[in-house]
Amino acid sequence: MSIQLRGVHKGFGAKKILRGLDLDVDEGETMSLVGFSGAGKSLTLKHIVGLMKPDAGTVHVDGQEVPTLPREKLFKLRLDMGYVFQFAALFDSMTIGANVAMGLRKKGGMTEKQIQDRVEESLALVDLEGFSHRLPSQLSGGQQKRAGLARAIAYRPKYLLYDEPTSGLDPVTTTVIDRLVLRMKKELGVTSLVITHDMKSAYTISDRIGMLYEGRLVEVGTPQEFQNTRNPIVRAFVEGEPGMRNDAEELLPMGGSGSDQGRKP
Ligand SMILES: Nc1ncnc2c1ncn2[C@@H]1O[C@H](COP(=O)(O)OP(=O)(O)OP(=O)(O)O)[C@@H](O)[C@H]1O
Ligand SMILES: [Mg+2]
Repeated sequence: MSIQLRGVHKGFGAKKILRGLDLDVDEGETMSLVGFSGAGKSLTLKHIVGLMKPDAGTVHVDGQEVPTLPREKLFKLRLDMGYVFQFAALFDSMTIGANVAMGLRKKGGMTEKQIQDRVEESLALVDLEGFSHRLPSQLSGGQQKRAGLARAIAYRPKYLLYDEPTSGLDPVTTTVIDRLVLRMKKELGVTSLVITHDMKSAYTISDRIGMLYEGRLVEVGTPQEFQNTRNPIVRAFVEGEPGMRNDAEELLPMGGSGSDQGRKP
């Protein structure tokens, strides 16, 4: 019941994003993945759910090699994975209740009453009681985000993959989501990978934190180890120092050829 990436490479044209990424999320663990915008965090999640295939390297979930799984097996594996997309990704024409119920219907084996109860329970967990009859357009951005989270947790997956679950949320709602992540781990024993740029949140929810930089993890450790690290890249990230982002050249043309020059500390 673990996630394992080994030597994963992925690029788009000349742009190499993942460059030999090794990543382990152990059973029952909550791991946070942090890194600058464009580092490849969302891309890493897409490899885990099989939406993207690596150019080289392996991706295993539950002992199964995701990129080589035949469609039916991949769909079956995906039923064990709750994916909270970076952008809510709700179906606009369906009510919030129907959106949350979708995974439950796909999985099967529940009566309509059980489905409705689970939908209400999941919405309550993200502080959205009574919203099931609304359409996504009738919710604020943060509420849509939480509805996406309710949909992911509704069918009690073995894995939860969260892509920026707290970005754009106010501090109180962020705390609610952090508690929810902790609760999912404690009560359901899920294995979680959380992409976040919110260090406070990462320190609260994680067993371990990893930082993705130039296509690999430059640091992996407990929140305390992470806080105390002397790694200059991590320090620059945590302290919000400009000039070390992976995509710095996109922001500040340096007259270079897009090579690594000038980006290392
Ligand atoms: N399908 C794709 N085709 C081409 N380039 C892509 C594709 N998917 C991702 N990329 C590129 O890969 C890089 C990493 O993207 P990714 O979405 O993983 O970043 P991220 O770390 O999640 O950033 P953010 O914090 O801004 O969400 C970006 O430069 C992006 O433009
Ligand atoms: Mg992203």
